[in-house]
Amino acid sequence: MITKAPKGTKDLLPSDSYKWQYIESIFRETCINFGYSEIRTPTFEHTELFERGVGDTTDVVEKQMYTFNDKSNRSITLRPEGTASVVRCFLENNLYANSLPAKMFYNISCFRYEKPQAGRLREFHQFGVEAFGSGEPSLDAEIISLAITFLNRLGLKNLELNINSIGCPECRKRYNEALREYFYNNYTQLCETCKGRLERNPLRILDCKSPICQDIAKNAPILLDYICDDCRTHFDSVQTILNDIGIKYGIDAKIVRGLDYYCKTVFEILSNNIGAKSAVCGGGRYDGLVEELGGTPTPAIGFGLGIERLILALDSQEITIPNENKLDVFIASVGENASKHVQKLAYLLRNQGISVDFDHMKKSLKAQMKYADKIGALYSVVIGDDEAEKKQAEIKNMKTGEKTAVNFSDMADFFKK
Ligand code: HAM
Repeated sequence: MITKAPKGTKDLLPSDSYKWQYIESIFRETCINFGYSEIRTPTFEHTELFERGVGDTTDVVEKQMYTFNDKSNRSITLRPEGTASVVRCFLENNLYANSLPAKMFYNISCFRYEKPQAGRLREFHQFGVEAFGSGEPSLDAEIISLAITFLNRLGLKNLELNINSIGCPECRKRYNEALREYFYNNYTQLCETCKGRLERNPLRILDCKSPICQDIAKNAPILLDYICDDCRTHFDSVQTILNDIGIKYGIDAKIVRGLDYYCKTVFEILSNNIGAKSAVCGGGRYDGLVEELGGTPTPAIGFGLGIERLILALDSQEITIPNENKLDVFIASVGENASKHVQKLAYLLRNQGISVDFDHMKKSLKAQMKYADKIGALYSVVIGDDEAEKKQAEIKNMKTGEKTAVNFSDMADFFKK
């Protein structure tokens, strides 16, 4: 099977890479506009980081991680998400000692052993942001507005932002009791995994994928009914700010998110792709995670946004993504001698930042021009002995057909105009 990529992975072909580059540049630009800086962490971490960080009763940790022992017998896991790694990096590099909030963004590959389908892969890619150091609702609203601004800049329509509050550990205690009581009444029907979750973490039953558990969960108590006054005030303030800045949202009391670290504000952004709505972005507060991983209590919030799902949504809405990788000029050659001059001229121009291509296949002049047209070169130049000797050639605008005689030494300036 050496000519078949592993199930759930996808090649990004040269004909499509411009889409990713464009989206990546808009994401980077948006994050910088909001005062976030890029962070890069390793693709794999110690397994324990995710067990502790993401939670050992989550689907991600229980069923989906790519975990293996390395040659020194250490348990290693390919990151299933970005937040735990960023928190680890924040602690290891004492980033908390700099002025807070610490605001970061990333563009990463993630790995989850899931059943592959449209928009669900085993290796997928995420844009993410994380902000540490403030528990203020203004930061919740900033993070949400960053995601919305980014998606709007890409021209996505029919986005649906839903928010919820899942309270603090105190609210969760009371809620867990209510959940346990409810699920114990349906105990025999629960799947084996959920039976195990009932005592340890009943909240996770709410995102079980088994249809029977999902059916039972439909009538389970709602977390929003159990949140304390502080969490309620926080949630109200987030909504007031979103209203003030004009971001439309709905409240979806069913959002609990599938990872254990969340508290207070959680949110998801749904988008249409291939008919069905799916979450293109999800995030929320995780005020307890830094402490859980060994740091001093530090409130934090962030989101992850799936790039493959984003591209599916853009494609399904027929949004054209500009291809900014145009070739400035194709240099064609005529005659045996000309090719070495072509290589020299191409080298000169490329060194001055002009994108240049030329023939490596000994094509006829006609075939070279056809190729230049096919690859979308903006200009073409034909070099024969005459041109090589005079160090001057006619530059042809491929769109208008207009021709201009230019000295080799002035060519870079001509293309830069
Ligand atoms: P998540 O909801 O697990 O959150 O993932 C975020 C996004 O990644 C999803 O909304 C979806 O678009 C995409 N995604 C997840 N799994 C797959 C998959 N198998 N194939 C394709 N796309 C997928 C997190 O990962 C959190 N770390 C987000 C976060 C950051 N919360 C706070 N800070």
